[in-house]
Amino acid sequence: MRRGLLIFLIVNLVIISFLVRSVSTLLSLLVEDASADAIHRSELPSPNSSLIEQRPQIIPKIIHQTYKNESIPEVWQEAQQSCIDLHPDYEYILWTNEKSREFIAAEYPWFLETFDNYKYPIQRADSIRYFVLAHYGGTYIDLDDGCNRRLDPLLAYPAWVRRTVPTGISNDAMGSVPQHPFFLRVIEVLQSYDRSWLLPYITVMYSTGPLFLSVIWKEYMQDGPNEAGRVRILMQEEYNKHSWSFFTHHVGNSWHGSDARLIFWMGQHWVFLTVLGFILGGLVGICLWWAYGRLLLLGSKYRYRYSKLPSFMSPSSPSRRSRFVMPTLLRRVSFKKDEEVGPINEASYELYSRRD
Ligand SMILES: *[C@@H]1O[C@H](CO)[C@@H](O)[C@H](O)[C@H]1NC(C)=O
Ligand SMILES: *[C@@H]1O[C@H](CO)[C@@H](O)[C@H](O)[C@H]1NC(C)=O
Repeated sequence: MRRGLLIFLIVNLVIISFLVRSVSTLLSLLVEDASADAIHRSELPSPNSSLIEQRPQIIPKIIHQTYKNESIPEVWQEAQQSCIDLHPDYEYILWTNEKSREFIAAEYPWFLETFDNYKYPIQRADSIRYFVLAHYGGTYIDLDDGCNRRLDPLLAYPAWVRRTVPTGISNDAMGSVPQHPFFLRVIEVLQSYDRSWLLPYITVMYSTGPLFLSVIWKEYMQDGPNEAGRVRILMQEEYNKHSWSFFTHHVGNSWHGSDARLIFWMGQHWVFLTVLGFILGGLVGICLWWAYGRLLLLGSKYRYRYSKLPSFMSPSSPSRRSRFVMPTLLRRVSFKKDEEVGPINEASYELYSRRD
């Protein structure tokens, strides 16, 4: 039995390490605070500072936004206008469904099939922003983000994305020079992340959305990019809610369904769910151990019966006990074995009844 326990533990260890390995990037995201690449508030000139002009502006002055067609709903028009008004010298491009598809077909035809086959329109809206940033460079802004000040200071970095609390980065506001290695990698791997994860919210998040981007970002950082390949992180307070922040947030995401609410609920109750997870894990472990023990008994029973018949008769032998608790399916199989054994079985039955 000692050897059995060892095998049992090894098998479980292998399974657990496999699981941990496959989610290791996700786990490491939980403890990533992005401090190494944060854009510190001390290095950002305040809105009307003369320091702004002394900084290089390497990101092109283009603002990209996406919507299905040209008729932007009223709730977002104010936000959109605030960005256009503050940046009269910037080029403004609204990527409609039609325009996005034409662009992919012309410039990235290898991606067109994936692009067309995305189940949710938001996946196309997510992916097109990575392609246009990789291609033209510029600043992408979600339609529900308005501008609070000019973006010029952010043009000084080769690429920047926004930090989200408690973990990871988001894709609702980001900037990049053309052909930045991070966004090139993002568009390169998009296809391989096009998988379904049962719940629409998780599928969207992990195939094209913020979770996908966070995982690629984390992996990208592990390769230690050089200064030009660095991705700088805009922290929460520089993102919105303050006079010196770059953006204002207008209305919440429109596409969150009931599964998103479930996930937000899980996020709020993660301590309870973690404890529950450990308890369930423990119970599953105990069940597995029990089943494994039964299987060992079953195996030893057959070996036992074919070799040493007489001791089978002892009422306290393990085979009797195991037959008692064996599930129906296994019991039937063992009866069949009894029939096959034939004469021996008859003899043993006689012995058995005589003893009674
Ligand atoms: C910056 O200057 C503009 C006009 O030039 C003014 O409207 C705005 O209030 C100023 N912002 C700050 C924070 O001083
Ligand atoms: C845009 O889409 C909306 C709703 O799908 C529709 O009502 C509107 O007419 C469309 N606008 C244009 C310019 O096609």
